Amino acid sequence: MNNDIAKISPSVHFIGAFDPQIRTFDIIMKTANGSSYNSYLVRGSEGVAVMDTVKKEFSADFFERLEALCEYEEIKYIVLHHLEPDHSGALLELMSKAPHARLIISSRAVMMLKGLIKTDIPFEVANTGKTISLGDKTIEFLSTPFLHWPDTMSSYLHEDKILFSGDVFGSHYYDERLFDDAVGDFSYAFKYYYEHIMRPFKQYVLQALELYAKFDIQIIAPLHGPILRSNPQYYIDKYAQWSSEAKFRKHEFGKKMVSVFYMSSYDNTQAMAKKVMQGADEVEGVVASMYDLASLNEQNMIDLLEESDAIMIGSPTINGDAVKPAWDLLCCMAYLESGGKIGASFGSYGWTGEAPEMLHDRMRWLKFRLPVKPLKIKLIPTQEELESCAAFGREVAEIAMGKMVEIDL
Ligand code: FEO
Repeated sequence: MNNDIAKISPSVHFIGAFDPQIRTFDIIMKTANGSSYNSYLVRGSEGVAVMDTVKKEFSADFFERLEALCEYEEIKYIVLHHLEPDHSGALLELMSKAPHARLIISSRAVMMLKGLIKTDIPFEVANTGKTISLGDKTIEFLSTPFLHWPDTMSSYLHEDKILFSGDVFGSHYYDERLFDDAVGDFSYAFKYYYEHIMRPFKQYVLQALELYAKFDIQIIAPLHGPILRSNPQYYIDKYAQWSSEAKFRKHEFGKKMVSVFYMSSYDNTQAMAKKVMQGADEVEGVVASMYDLASLNEQNMIDLLEESDAIMIGSPTINGDAVKPAWDLLCCMAYLESGGKIGASFGSYGWTGEAPEMLHDRMRWLKFRLPVKPLKIKLIPTQEELESCAAFGREVAEIAMGKMVEIDL
């Protein structure tokens, strides 16, 4: 890639690195098209700023690109929008080479810096509104935490109208043509990245978009994937839409959504689930639904979990454990905002019946509100026991409606 291709604007160049072979990112993400670690060099009349670095293994590419554009003595600032190692991997080497560089990080990054770098290095803190000057270029900082770590921030280069967005608006999509109007169709990668990185932090996305709205943004320069110059507003609108849309119609009618998930070996936990669901559905203002975990795919699990106000999970106990689909369901909370949802668990059992308690404990760690004790029934539920299942569902639904004082157990 020559420096003409890497030119983002008259004063900004791409100096990042490409990772075409990576196929799994951050353990949870598939990266069929590889990825890139984007870094940028901003040149002003009185010096240079380096915006982020790259993953350590790719340092050589980064330094080669940087050295083609400036002398280390010219570097006045190193800005780390995000300390995750895919962006801070070359920091120490860069600081050792750039004698005049001042490191800028967010206030929330301060506690993380030492943990990552394992040495004391000088730094300055930037919050929303702080600016730095490169003579004829001014960079303004914006606090945009949790996108995707607590430390994340963005910045805006006023004269060139470029938003350095951090992980926000990123894609794991390697393509050396760099710009969104030149690379292949990366729509799926852009959406997939949002779903897996930003979705748990929707409220923070909306807060960041409010900050961005104050600026005339002509180019978005994220930390991964294509640089967005064809129509930045298109991508901003996508984030706004995904962060505010409801996926299910029940909420449009002002109802609370109570979801009963279950697995059943001999129909006993299923019979419990049916009564739990019916009991919940009797509560005015609630729409209760039940789902057999044996036939739900992961995306459906994530969507249902996200939209549900209360979640009840039924599992038999097999070899002293809840069944795998029940654990898979709770693993999906990794993609969602945790905290605040009501949880409950139940199940039929033959011998010891640990599963409901185990699910209850797991939900506690996931910050569910747990107002009722797990409900266990030995083997085939009697009519009386089925009525207790209906009462169980009713109680949880009433709590979801705010009708009863809840106690975390
Ligand atoms: Fe690309 Fe959250 O690091």
